[in-house]
This record gives sequence, structure tokens and C-alpha cells, in this order.
Amino acid sequence: MTIPAMTTPSAAASPGAEQPAELDMDRLSLLLFGHAAFQYLNAACELELLDLLLERGELTAEEIRAELGLAERAADILLLGCTALGLTRKEEGRYRAATLIASLAEDGGWDKLKDTVAFEQHIVYPGQADFVASLRENTNVGLRRIPGDGPDLYHRLSRHPHLETVFYRYMRSWSELANEHLVAALDLGGATRLLDCGGGDAVNALALAEANPHLHVTVLEIPSSAPVTEKRITEAGLGDRVLVEPCDMFADPFPGGMDCVLFAHQLVIWTPEENTALLRKAYDALTPGGRVVIFNSMSNDEGDGPVVAALDSVYFASLPAEGGMIYPWRLHEKCLREAGFSSVERIEVPGWTPHGIIVAAKQDT
Ligand SMILES: C[S@@+](CC[C@H](N)C(=O)[O-])C[C@H]1O[C@@H](n2cnc3c(N)ncnc32)[C@H](O)[C@@H]1O
Repeated sequence: MTIPAMTTPSAAASPGAEQPAELDMDRLSLLLFGHAAFQYLNAACELELLDLLLERGELTAEEIRAELGLAERAADILLLGCTALGLTRKEEGRYRAATLIASLAEDGGWDKLKDTVAFEQHIVYPGQADFVASLRENTNVGLRRIPGDGPDLYHRLSRHPHLETVFYRYMRSWSELANEHLVAALDLGGATRLLDCGGGDAVNALALAEANPHLHVTVLEIPSSAPVTEKRITEAGLGDRVLVEPCDMFADPFPGGMDCVLFAHQLVIWTPEENTALLRKAYDALTPGGRVVIFNSMSNDEGDGPVVAALDSVYFASLPAEGGMIYPWRLHEKCLREAGFSSVERIEVPGWTPHGIIVAAKQDT
């Protein structure tokens, strides 16, 4: 079976068209066994096969088996799958990591990808078993896979230290895959106060504060996750300009007088109505002329891609909260207008993730 690259379906489409080419048996087989393909990727990460090959270059099956401490049959399975899927290459009896993996490793992208794999394995996988039920009931049935009585995934994480670590490591990496573009796109020269709503471990707050030495950032975060935020801010040595405010951003008032309000990977979690309510609170918290910024993955306005946005929506449908998906750009823009914002601007973000940025302004009165 030939395994197409992630971009193959759209690349194969006619120029300008968003839809992939007609389904063929190779792609259908990959869908049928997609869960197994991911298990090879995860095993290659967790068993450190690819890290071993990145470090040592080319190795024989016997050398790999000895280094990984695997039985012969187990190593044969691992190498069969990883090589058939293209993660490893076999040349003259020796295995090496795929060229793409080696080039990702050179610029730090491989570690970020591994953090994403761990998130998919330990958090997304159990919850997405309830995808069909979640679609039928139009709610996140998969949350039942994460023990606890919190109303959403985030309010349950602190009870599961391993999952909490996996989640915030992933969120940091996922943000870092694209937030250099956020920092570059946002001219904060005239801004002194920025509010980061649901800021996680402050990955974006810290990047913006580092790039703008005059900027003070308040991070809103739920009380059970605020210690994660606090720890990162302290480690970064930016406690004089970046503060975390433990709160419930839906129930509690936003601090006012803000030049900029950021929602990073936030408005993919909630329903459009909840998003509009959050954006209204942002509007009220802004000074005239202030800007709100939405930074997260976007699907296209036609509702047929890109494929990573579609795949990531399974998680948002099944697990974190009652509503959410990788919404199309136009849906965010509609919510922004309903919340009172004008001059809405789209900024496309390059890269393999479907990140985008929307900046909208509160009218200067
Ligand atoms: C998907 S993560 C995004 C984290 C960060 N903004 C980033 O881009 O890496 C969503 C964050 O929102 C926080 N959150 C969820 N509900 C919240 C609420 N009601 N009030 C404040 N923060 C909340 C979660 O705890 C979590 O850290």
C-alpha cells in the first residue's frame, strides 16, 4: 500500500479546488487502518526508535533490537510498520529515520511533534472513541473517559498529574509551532496592557512580553491550572510584567483598561454563543481603539478543509467541552461583529498546522 503524505489529497485536486481527488483504495485502506498507523507513530516516539536513529544514523535490525531492549518479534513488527509507513527507511539492510524527521529534528520541530503525538495518544484517543455518540448527542460524550466531576476537560486535568503534564507540554509546543507569527503580526508598540484569556502555561503571554519590553500581561486561568501558569512565569523571570489571575473567565468580570485582548486556542473550545459572550466581555475590557486577537486553527469558509482542521475537530467534538470545533474563519468574524467589533482582519499563518490570526478593533470614539 502506498501511503500518501498529509498534503496529497489537496495537492492531487485540480488547481484552485479545495476538495481532494476522488477516493482510491490506497486512501480508503489508510482510513480503515488509520488508528494502527498512529500506533506505529506513537510507538516510534515512546520507544524512542526515531530518536535512536536520529542520534546514531543507520543501524541494523539487530542493533535496533538490542538498543531498544525488544524481543525479535516485537522489533520486527515495529520496523515493519515504521518502514511501510515511511517513518524509517531501509537501505542495504540498515534503517535510518526519514529525511523529514531528520530535518524536523534540526529546528526543534521534532520535539514539538512528539509532544503532539503524546497528547493524541493519552488524551485524544480515549475520548474520540465517543465521536459518534458526541455527534448524535451534539455534546462531548468523550469527557466521561477522563474521571472527575469538573464540567470540562480543563477542570479535570489537575486530578491527573500525568495528563496535565502531557496536556500543557502539548499546548506549549502547539502554540510554539505558530506563535512567532502572532508576535510578528501584532504591532504592540503603542500597547501597555494585554489580557490573555485562558492563557494556559503563559506560552503566548511570555512570547509577547519578551518581544515587547513595555508590555504588561494579565493571564486569566482557572484556579486549578493557575499554578502551572505561575511556575512558567517565574521560570521565565517575567513575574514583574506577566501576572496570572485565577478566575472563571465566563463568570468573573474581566479587568478593564486593556489595549489588547488575546484568545489563543480558546475559541475552538466553546459554542458560537459562548464565544460571542467572551468577545463581548473583551469588548468591554478594551479601551477605545483597542484590539481583540483570535489565534487558533481555522477551517476554510467552504467547510471542506484543510484536512488537519477536520481531523482536529474530532477532539473538539468529543472531549474538552460541550461545543467546539475548528471553526471556519467566517464563524469567528460573525461572532466578532455580534460582539460589536469592526475592521476585522484575517492573517494567514504559514506552516503545516492550520493556524490563523484574526485581529479586530473596538471603534475609537
Ligand atoms: C486549549 S488551552 C489554551 C492555552 C493557551 N492559551 C495556549 O494557546 O497555549 C485552554 C486553556 O483555557 C483555560 N480555561 C478553560 N476554561 C476556562 C475558564 N472558564 N476561565 C479561564 N480559563 C479557562 C484552560 O484551563 C486551558 O489552560
